Amino acid sequence: MKYSILTLFPELVRPWTQESILEKVIAKGLIKVDVHDIRGSTTDKHKTADDTPYGGGAGMVMRVDVTVKAIEAAGLADEVILLSPAGERFTQKIAEDLATKEHIVLVCGRYEGIDARAEEFVTREISIGDYVLMGGELGALVILEATSRLIPGVIKEAESHQQDSFSTGLLDYPHYTRPAEFRGLGVPEILVSGHHAKIAEWRRKQALKRTKQRRPDLLEQAELTAEDLLWLEELD
Ligand SMILES: C[S@@+](CC[C@H](N)C(=O)[O-])C[C@H]1O[C@@H](n2cnc3c(N)ncnc32)[C@H](O)[C@@H]1O
Repeated sequence: MKYSILTLFPELVRPWTQESILEKVIAKGLIKVDVHDIRGSTTDKHKTADDTPYGGGAGMVMRVDVTVKAIEAAGLADEVILLSPAGERFTQKIAEDLATKEHIVLVCGRYEGIDARAEEFVTREISIGDYVLMGGELGALVILEATSRLIPGVIKEAESHQQDSFSTGLLDYPHYTRPAEFRGLGVPEILVSGHHAKIAEWRRKQALKRTKQRRPDLLEQAELTAEDLLWLEELD
């Protein structure tokens, strides 16, 4: 999978790809991340990528000609995604879909955003939440993180992301590790019992409980067994 991230601030993005799991999987060739400076697509000697808005008003608007040139320079892609507060809300389901693609272009806006005509040159617009950031770079990195970890081989234990919050339609169950006791707080006994079937049952119940308490809306879409429904009733 190849990601092309188009930004006016490449140095905000590159360091994220140079640490931890991303750095390793890029080195192994499992994913490729190209960070392109949109200013490289300008044509004037001042490298002007923005201009004042038609109709007046505060702020600057990123130019459509420069942005589209940068999109086209990134090459053929399965998806060209514009980061925008007006886009569809990013979810695990979208991440799962994007993780199956070969090449994704992520276009980061700045200032008041990009000239609206650029919307004709993208395949979708994605928002990472109902708030306004200064630029699309964090959104692009959110999509990079959420999708790349679903690509086979990126996370060592494939099982681990199958259990993640949202992947099962539920929130994840709580996790514990050493020490067995911390400031009077212990670890659920079942987890040290070595009884795998009982542990699996406890985890499923905890996931159901957390989801019911914190995100009951998710239960409406989750695939639940007859046993799950019974446990949920018991929680009432
Ligand atoms: C300051 S914002 C522009 C906000 C725009 N004037 C509005 O009110 O919708 C600049 C850029 O940040 C990015 N951005 C801001 N908030 C975002 C969000 N919630 N999701 C995705 N991208 C966002 C977009 O690329 C946007 O073009």
